[in-house]
Amino acid sequence: MERAAMLSVSGLCASYGAIRAVNGISFEVQPGTMVAILGANGAGKSTTLRSIAGLHRASEGSIRLGGEEISALPVHRVARKGLALVPEGRMIVAPLTVEENLRLSGYAGRGDQRELMARVYELFPRLKERRTQVAGLMSGGEQQMLAIGRALMTQPSVLVLDEPSMGLAPAIVDVVFQAIVTLHRQGQCILLVEQNAEIALSVCEYAYLMKRGAIVAEGPVETLRADAGVLDAYLS
Ligand SMILES: Nc1ncnc2c1ncn2[C@@H]1O[C@H](COP(=O)(O)OP(=O)(O)O)[C@@H](O)[C@H]1O
Ligand SMILES: [Mg+2]
Repeated sequence: MERAAMLSVSGLCASYGAIRAVNGISFEVQPGTMVAILGANGAGKSTTLRSIAGLHRASEGSIRLGGEEISALPVHRVARKGLALVPEGRMIVAPLTVEENLRLSGYAGRGDQRELMARVYELFPRLKERRTQVAGLMSGGEQQMLAIGRALMTQPSVLVLDEPSMGLAPAIVDVVFQAIVTLHRQGQCILLVEQNAEIALSVCEYAYLMKRGAIVAEGPVETLRADAGVLDAYLS
């Protein structure tokens, strides 16, 4: 019997006026798995994620979360149904402290807020140390940790990450990805979008390659890594 996907996207199209950024893509994320969408700058990755999260209205296609159609829902209802997007650029509230950012995000959410915050601090001890620090004054890496922490405060059934490595020094990328791997080991279902194919393929189980709005290749990461030509052809 086929397993029910946690997230299932089918025939998704999204445009900006006359520009079609996403052209009929389909993919799935099974419960408990970590799946990557890889692609060069401009491939349509962020538009895909923004469409799934309800931040951009898809022009065609189906988006199912836990079997339920969500493509027509506004962003706050998608969030309440269990999909949390950590957007490109992180979207933290700069003048507020770390703790205020976490509380604000969890406010309308699911689950026990104190427990969720403790879990965020366990995952990112750095955030606990800086909990009274104004978020906008922190380093890029700390802001990325906070952005992920904010998403976790909603106790998401699918955590969606848009290029968490972007703009970070390699040592900080490692810290952030160690946390992502820990979350995955704890059972968190994750959809990861990255330009950094090497790191994404080292942590995910399955990946889709996107180019000019379409999915051009997919497979288990071992298969994709074994065929470097595939990656070179599509990610440049
Ligand atoms: N707000 C926008 N208005 C017009 N075109 C956009 C906008 N955002 C993205 N695009 C275009 O859509 C395409 C896909 O962009 P995007 O989804 O951001 O790609 P990626 O995240 O893979 O870099 C690109 O050609 C980009 O120029
Ligand atoms: Mg992007």
